[in-house]
Amino acid sequence: MKNALKIFVLVLAAAIIVLQFFRIDQTNPVVNAAETIDAAVEVPPDIQIILGRSCNDCHSNTTIYPWYTNVQPTGWYVKNHIDDGRRHLNFSTFNTYPLSKKQKKLSEMCEEVRTSEMPLPAYLWIHRDAQMQPGEAEALCSWTDQAIAALEKSAAKE
Ligand code: HEC
Repeated sequence: MKNALKIFVLVLAAAIIVLQFFRIDQTNPVVNAAETIDAAVEVPPDIQIILGRSCNDCHSNTTIYPWYTNVQPTGWYVKNHIDDGRRHLNFSTFNTYPLSKKQKKLSEMCEEVRTSEMPLPAYLWIHRDAQMQPGEAEALCSWTDQAIAALEKSAAKE
């Protein structure tokens, strides 16, 4: 019995070591200023702060990878959120979306924050400062409303 346990622990340790060879790709795609959300709509400083602090790591190509993403399987877990987050909404490529998609994503941003579905709860376990502060959801929503209207207006002009 004792030997079986020893073998089990050794195999487990070996497996964990092997996992470490499968590192995640931490290179961020290149950001083209003309493709960013800032090129599409005006993003005032208070909103920049919210997005930068609470959303950018999963919804932009300027992700900062924490040290524990060098440890597997945690890195895979985080990378999965980043890939999925970018697929759904990427501030770095926002201006490449068609008008209707831009407006839809803006309105979803308000919705997700208002219902506390974003920032992703798992992110807040570690990034405590990413928690939305009182009044920030309202500020974000009034900005998204304005941005949606501004996009509508500039599209009508064209
Ligand atoms: C830890 C990573 C992470 C953070 C931080 C994060 N998101 Fe997300 N977000 C995701 C993932 C993953 C999805 C896709 C799966 C889902 O909808 O739950 C998503 C989906 C969304 C969607 C839905 C888009 C759609 O197509 O339905 C919106 C809008 C969104 N996030 C906005 C935000 C905003 C605004 C913030 C900051 C306040 C934020 N997210 C922070 C990971 C994140």
